[in-house]
Amino acid sequence: MNKGTAIYPGSFDPPTNGHLDLIQRGSKIFEELVVAILRNPEKTPMFSVSERLEMLRELTADLHNVRIDTFGGLMVEYAKSIEATCVLRGIRAVSDYEYELQMALLNRKIEPTLETVFMMPADKYSYISSRLVREVAQVGGPVKGLVPEVVEQKLREKLDPAYKLAESKLAEVPKRRKRKA
Ligand code: PNS
Repeated sequence: MNKGTAIYPGSFDPPTNGHLDLIQRGSKIFEELVVAILRNPEKTPMFSVSERLEMLRELTADLHNVRIDTFGGLMVEYAKSIEATCVLRGIRAVSDYEYELQMALLNRKIEPTLETVFMMPADKYSYISSRLVREVAQVGGPVKGLVPEVVEQKLREKLDPAYKLAESKLAEVPKRRKRKA
C-alpha cells in the first residue's frame, strides 16, 4: 500500500504538545507529512505565520519525512496542489468530533478523493488546546508541560509584561503565620 503524502492543517497558534504528539504519530504512518499552517487574514493571531513556521520547523527538525508549509484559501485546493491523498486531524474528546465530522464531510463533498484520517493524541494531552494555552499565558500563568520548551520560551518573550506582573503579584502574597499551638 502506498501511504503517500498527508497534510496536517491547522492554526497552530501556538503549537502545543498535543500537536507535536500527533505529528510524531502521523510521521510514522505516512510516507510524508506536511504540516500546513493556515494564513488567515481574518484572524489576529498571537504568533505571526512566520513565527509559527519557525517554531514548528525547529520542533520537527529530527523528523525527516515532516515538512512545514503555509497555505491560504481552501485546504482541499492546497492538498491537491501538493498531491496529498489524506488529511490528518486530531480528536481529543467527543466534543471535537462534531466539528471535525462536519469539516471532513464538507471537504469530502468538495474533493471526494481526499480522505480524512483521525488520530488521537496521548491521553495526557487530551485537555490541551492552543486557545487555553493562550488564555493561561496572557495572564502570566504556567504553561510548562502544555507546550514544548521552545514555545514556552517564545510565549514568555512575547508576554513578558504579563509574566512580570504575575511574578510580582506572587511576591506580594504575605507568608502565612504559623498557628499557635
Ligand atoms: O487548528 P484549527 O484552527 O482547528 O484548523 C482549522 C483548519 C485550518 C483546518 C480549517 O479551518 C481549514 O481547513 N481552513 C481553510 C479553509 C477551508 O478549507 N475551509 C473548509 C473546511 S471547513
